[in-house]
Amino acid sequence: MEKIAFTGGGNMTAAIIGGLISSGWDPSRITVVDPNADQRVRLAAEHGVHITDDVATAAIADIIVLAVKPQVINAVAGQMTTDLSGKLLLSIAAGVTIGTLEQLFGPVAIARTMPNTPALLSLGATGLYVNDHTSEVQRLEAQKIIESFGICVAVAKEDLLDSVTAVSGSGPAYYFLMIEEMIKAGTAQGLSREDAAALTVQTALGRQPWPRRAMCPPKSCAPA
Ligand SMILES: NC(=O)c1ccc[n+]([C@@H]2O[C@H](COP(=O)([O-])OP(=O)(O)OC[C@H]3O[C@@H](n4cnc5c(N)ncnc54)[C@H](OP(=O)(O)O)[C@@H]3O)[C@@H](O)[C@H]2O)c1
Repeated sequence: MEKIAFTGGGNMTAAIIGGLISSGWDPSRITVVDPNADQRVRLAAEHGVHITDDVATAAIADIIVLAVKPQVINAVAGQMTTDLSGKLLLSIAAGVTIGTLEQLFGPVAIARTMPNTPALLSLGATGLYVNDHTSEVQRLEAQKIIESFGICVAVAKEDLLDSVTAVSGSGPAYYFLMIEEMIKAGTAQGLSREDAAALTVQTALGRQPWPRRAMCPPKSCAPA
Protein backbone atom coordinates (compact mmCIF):
# COMPACT_ATOMS: atom_id res chain seq x y z
CA MET A 1 0.00 0.00 0.00
CA GLU A 2 1.26 3.45 -0.88
CA LYS A 3 2.46 5.90 1.73
CA ILE A 4 2.01 9.64 1.66
CA ALA A 5 4.02 12.29 3.53
CA PHE A 6 3.20 15.96 4.00
CA THR A 7 5.94 18.53 4.45
CA GLY A 8 4.12 21.23 6.39
CA GLY A 9 1.34 20.41 8.81
CA GLY A 10 -0.77 23.56 8.54
CA ASN A 11 -4.35 24.29 7.56
CA MET A 12 -4.27 22.85 4.05
CA THR A 13 -2.56 19.66 5.19
CA ALA A 14 -5.21 19.17 7.89
CA ALA A 15 -7.92 19.60 5.24
CA ILE A 16 -6.33 17.14 2.82
CA ILE A 17 -5.69 14.55 5.52
CA GLY A 18 -9.33 14.82 6.61
CA GLY A 19 -10.38 14.09 3.03
CA LEU A 20 -7.95 11.21 2.60
CA ILE A 21 -9.04 9.48 5.79
CA SER A 22 -12.72 9.86 4.98
CA SER A 23 -12.04 8.38 1.55
CA GLY A 24 -10.46 5.28 3.11
CA TRP A 25 -6.76 6.03 3.61
CA ASP A 26 -5.46 4.37 6.76
CA PRO A 27 -3.78 6.99 9.00
CA SER A 28 -0.84 4.60 9.44
CA ARG A 29 0.08 5.34 5.77
CA ILE A 30 0.22 9.09 6.40
CA THR A 31 3.20 11.04 7.83
CA VAL A 32 3.37 14.75 8.56
CA VAL A 33 6.65 16.66 8.85
CA ASP A 34 6.45 19.98 10.67
CA PRO A 35 8.92 21.86 12.87
CA ASN A 36 6.08 23.13 15.05
CA ALA A 37 5.41 20.68 17.92
CA ASP A 38 1.89 22.05 18.51
CA GLN A 39 0.91 21.39 14.89
CA ARG A 40 2.33 17.86 15.06
CA VAL A 41 0.54 17.01 18.30
CA ARG A 42 -2.75 18.42 16.98
CA LEU A 43 -2.61 16.38 13.77
CA ALA A 44 -1.63 13.20 15.58
CA ALA A 45 -4.45 13.65 18.10
CA GLU A 46 -7.08 14.54 15.48
CA HIS A 47 -6.16 12.04 12.78
CA GLY A 48 -3.82 9.41 14.28
CA VAL A 49 -1.13 10.06 11.64
CA HIS A 50 2.64 9.64 12.08
CA ILE A 51 4.44 12.87 12.91
CA THR A 52 8.05 13.99 12.75
CA ASP A 53 10.19 17.11 12.48
CA ASP A 54 12.68 15.45 10.11
CA VAL A 55 12.06 16.44 6.47
CA ALA A 56 14.29 13.61 5.21
CA THR A 57 11.67 11.16 6.59
CA ALA A 58 9.15 12.42 4.03
CA ALA A 59 11.26 11.08 1.19
CA ILE A 60 10.49 7.52 2.32
CA ALA A 61 6.88 7.93 1.14
CA ASP A 62 5.66 7.22 -2.41
CA ILE A 63 3.79 10.52 -2.58
CA ILE A 64 5.29 13.65 -1.05
CA VAL A 65 3.00 16.64 -0.61
CA LEU A 66 4.74 20.02 -0.56
CA ALA A 67 2.44 21.94 1.77
CA VAL A 68 4.74 24.59 3.17
CA LYS A 69 4.62 28.30 2.37
CA PRO A 70 6.20 29.00 -1.04
CA GLN A 71 9.23 30.71 0.52
CA VAL A 72 10.02 27.55 2.51
CA ILE A 73 10.17 25.18 -0.49
CA ASN A 74 13.91 25.86 -1.02
CA ALA A 75 14.70 24.83 2.55
CA VAL A 76 12.61 21.66 2.21
CA ALA A 77 14.41 20.73 -1.03
CA GLY A 78 17.77 21.27 0.68
CA GLN A 79 16.83 18.86 3.46
CA MET A 80 15.41 16.18 1.14
CA THR A 81 18.60 14.47 0.06
CA THR A 82 17.15 11.06 -0.95
CA ASP A 83 16.74 10.18 -4.64
CA LEU A 84 13.10 10.92 -5.48
CA SER A 85 12.95 8.88 -8.72
CA GLY A 86 9.68 6.99 -9.05
CA LYS A 87 7.95 9.14 -6.44
CA LEU A 88 5.20 11.69 -6.99
CA LEU A 89 5.66 15.22 -5.67
CA LEU A 90 2.32 16.93 -5.21
CA SER A 91 2.73 20.65 -4.66
CA ILE A 92 0.03 22.92 -3.29
CA ALA A 93 2.41 25.87 -2.94
CA ALA A 94 0.91 28.93 -4.62
CA GLY A 95 2.95 30.37 -7.47
CA VAL A 96 5.84 27.88 -7.38
CA THR A 97 6.21 26.68 -10.98
CA ILE A 98 7.03 23.22 -12.23
CA GLY A 99 10.27 24.70 -13.64
CA THR A 100 11.33 25.83 -10.17
CA LEU A 101 10.29 22.53 -8.61
CA GLU A 102 12.26 20.54 -11.22
CA GLN A 103 15.33 22.71 -10.54
CA LEU A 104 15.01 22.01 -6.83
CA PHE A 105 13.96 18.35 -6.85
CA GLY A 106 15.20 17.09 -10.23
CA PRO A 107 13.39 15.48 -13.19
CA VAL A 108 10.73 13.70 -11.12
CA ALA A 109 6.95 13.35 -11.36
CA ILE A 110 5.35 16.60 -10.20
CA ALA A 111 1.66 17.39 -9.85
CA ARG A 112 1.20 21.12 -9.31
CA THR A 113 -2.14 21.99 -7.80
CA MET A 114 -4.09 25.03 -6.65
CA PRO A 115 -6.62 24.10 -3.96
CA ASN A 116 -8.83 26.49 -1.98
CA THR A 117 -9.97 26.83 1.62
CA PRO A 118 -13.36 25.06 1.19
CA ALA A 119 -11.16 21.93 1.13
CA LEU A 120 -11.49 22.27 4.92
CA LEU A 121 -15.16 21.23 4.46
CA SER A 122 -14.35 18.64 1.75
CA LEU A 123 -15.86 21.13 -0.72
CA GLY A 124 -12.60 22.15 -2.35
CA ALA A 125 -12.18 23.23 -5.96
CA THR A 126 -8.67 22.40 -7.11
CA GLY A 127 -6.79 22.91 -10.37
CA LEU A 128 -4.21 20.32 -11.44
CA TYR A 129 -1.34 20.31 -13.91
CA VAL A 130 1.27 17.55 -14.15
CA ASN A 131 4.74 17.58 -15.71
CA ASP A 132 5.98 15.24 -18.44
CA HIS A 133 7.69 12.92 -15.92
CA THR A 134 4.33 12.01 -14.40
CA SER A 135 2.89 8.65 -15.43
CA GLU A 136 -0.81 8.13 -16.05
CA VAL A 137 -1.01 6.09 -12.83
CA GLN A 138 0.57 8.95 -10.86
CA ARG A 139 -1.72 11.51 -12.50
CA LEU A 140 -4.72 9.44 -11.47
CA GLU A 141 -3.32 9.18 -7.94
CA ALA A 142 -3.05 12.96 -7.77
CA GLN A 143 -6.62 13.27 -9.05
CA LYS A 144 -7.91 10.79 -6.46
CA ILE A 145 -6.16 12.62 -3.63
CA ILE A 146 -7.66 15.93 -4.77
CA GLU A 147 -11.13 14.40 -5.17
CA SER A 148 -10.99 13.19 -1.57
CA PHE A 149 -11.51 16.84 -0.52
CA GLY A 150 -13.55 18.26 -3.40
CA ILE A 151 -13.52 18.52 -7.19
CA CYS A 152 -10.49 18.37 -9.45
CA VAL A 153 -10.17 20.35 -12.68
CA ALA A 154 -7.20 19.48 -14.90
CA VAL A 155 -5.86 22.38 -16.91
CA ALA A 156 -4.16 22.01 -20.29
CA LYS A 157 -1.40 24.57 -19.68
CA GLU A 158 0.45 25.37 -16.47
CA ASP A 159 -0.29 29.11 -16.89
CA LEU A 160 -3.99 28.33 -16.44
CA LEU A 161 -3.30 27.60 -12.77
CA ASP A 162 -3.08 31.40 -12.41
CA SER A 163 -6.67 31.56 -13.69
CA VAL A 164 -7.66 28.83 -11.22
CA THR A 165 -6.08 30.96 -8.49
CA ALA A 166 -8.13 33.96 -9.62
CA VAL A 167 -11.43 32.05 -9.85
CA SER A 168 -11.51 29.42 -7.10
CA GLY A 169 -8.29 30.04 -5.13
CA SER A 170 -9.27 33.62 -4.34
CA GLY A 171 -12.98 32.99 -4.92
CA PRO A 172 -14.00 32.41 -1.28
CA ALA A 173 -13.01 36.01 -0.49
CA TYR A 174 -15.37 37.32 -3.20
CA TYR A 175 -18.24 35.23 -1.84
CA PHE A 176 -17.57 36.40 1.72
CA LEU A 177 -17.70 40.00 0.49
CA MET A 178 -20.95 39.40 -1.37
CA ILE A 179 -22.47 37.63 1.66
CA GLU A 180 -21.43 40.51 3.90
CA GLU A 181 -23.08 43.01 1.52
CA MET A 182 -26.30 40.95 1.36
CA ILE A 183 -26.44 40.83 5.17
CA LYS A 184 -25.93 44.61 5.29
CA ALA A 185 -28.71 45.09 2.72
CA GLY A 186 -31.05 42.90 4.80
CA THR A 187 -30.32 44.79 8.01
CA ALA A 188 -30.73 48.14 6.19
CA GLN A 189 -34.27 46.99 5.33
CA GLY A 190 -35.10 46.15 8.95
CA LEU A 191 -34.05 42.52 9.48
CA SER A 192 -31.96 41.75 12.54
CA ARG A 193 -28.33 41.00 11.68
CA GLU A 194 -28.83 37.45 12.95
CA ASP A 195 -31.84 36.86 10.69
CA ALA A 196 -30.20 38.51 7.67
CA ALA A 197 -27.10 36.36 8.21
CA ALA A 198 -29.11 33.13 8.57
CA LEU A 199 -31.14 33.88 5.42
CA THR A 200 -28.07 34.84 3.39
CA VAL A 201 -25.87 31.93 4.40
CA GLN A 202 -28.64 29.37 3.96
CA THR A 203 -29.31 30.80 0.50
CA ALA A 204 -25.61 30.44 -0.38
CA LEU A 205 -25.72 26.78 0.68
CA GLY A 206 -28.85 26.01 -1.30
CA ARG A 207 -27.49 25.54 -4.79
CA GLN A 208 -27.46 22.29 -6.72
CA PRO A 209 -24.10 20.50 -6.41
CA TRP A 210 -22.04 21.07 -9.55
CA PRO A 211 -21.79 17.71 -11.35
CA ARG A 212 -18.34 16.15 -11.13
CA ARG A 213 -17.02 15.45 -14.57
CA ALA A 214 -14.67 12.79 -15.82
CA MET A 215 -11.19 14.25 -15.94
CA CYS A 216 -9.36 14.18 -19.25
CA PRO A 217 -5.58 13.89 -19.48
CA PRO A 218 -4.18 17.47 -19.46
CA LYS A 219 -3.00 17.38 -23.08
CA SER A 220 -6.34 16.22 -24.44
CA CYS A 221 -7.99 19.06 -22.48
CA ALA A 222 -6.33 21.54 -24.82
CA PRO A 223 -8.77 23.36 -27.09
CA ALA A 224 -8.77 22.01 -30.68
N1 LIG B 1 -4.61 28.44 2.74
C1 LIG B 1 -5.07 28.54 1.49
O1 LIG B 1 -6.14 29.05 1.18
C2 LIG B 1 -4.26 27.98 0.35
C3 LIG B 1 -4.88 27.79 -0.88
C4 LIG B 1 -4.11 27.26 -1.93
C5 LIG B 1 -2.78 26.94 -1.72
N2 LIG B 1 -2.22 27.17 -0.50
C6 LIG B 1 -0.81 26.85 -0.33
O2 LIG B 1 -0.71 25.81 0.63
C7 LIG B 1 0.54 25.90 1.29
C8 LIG B 1 0.29 25.73 2.78
O3 LIG B 1 -0.63 26.72 3.20
P1 LIG B 1 -1.26 26.68 4.67
O4 LIG B 1 -2.32 27.72 4.68
O5 LIG B 1 -1.59 25.26 5.05
O6 LIG B 1 0.02 27.18 5.52
P2 LIG B 1 0.32 27.03 7.08
O7 LIG B 1 -0.95 26.81 7.84
O8 LIG B 1 1.21 28.18 7.45
O9 LIG B 1 1.16 25.67 7.17
C9 LIG B 1 2.51 25.55 6.81
C10 LIG B 1 3.19 24.72 7.86
O10 LIG B 1 4.53 24.40 7.40
C11 LIG B 1 5.38 24.46 8.53
N3 LIG B 1 6.78 24.54 8.13
C12 LIG B 1 7.60 25.64 8.10
N4 LIG B 1 8.84 25.26 7.69
C13 LIG B 1 8.81 23.94 7.45
C14 LIG B 1 9.76 22.96 7.00
N5 LIG B 1 11.03 23.31 6.70
N6 LIG B 1 9.39 21.68 6.88
C15 LIG B 1 8.12 21.30 7.15
N7 LIG B 1 7.16 22.16 7.58
C16 LIG B 1 7.50 23.46 7.73
C17 LIG B 1 4.87 25.66 9.28
O11 LIG B 1 5.37 25.70 10.58
P3 LIG B 1 5.54 27.16 11.29
O12 LIG B 1 4.16 27.72 11.42
O13 LIG B 1 6.21 26.86 12.58
O14 LIG B 1 6.38 28.00 10.34
C18 LIG B 1 3.36 25.45 9.21
O15 LIG B 1 2.94 24.59 10.24
C19 LIG B 1 1.14 27.26 0.91
O16 LIG B 1 2.20 27.06 0.00
C20 LIG B 1 0.02 27.99 0.23
O17 LIG B 1 0.50 28.79 -0.84
C21 LIG B 1 -2.94 27.66 0.55
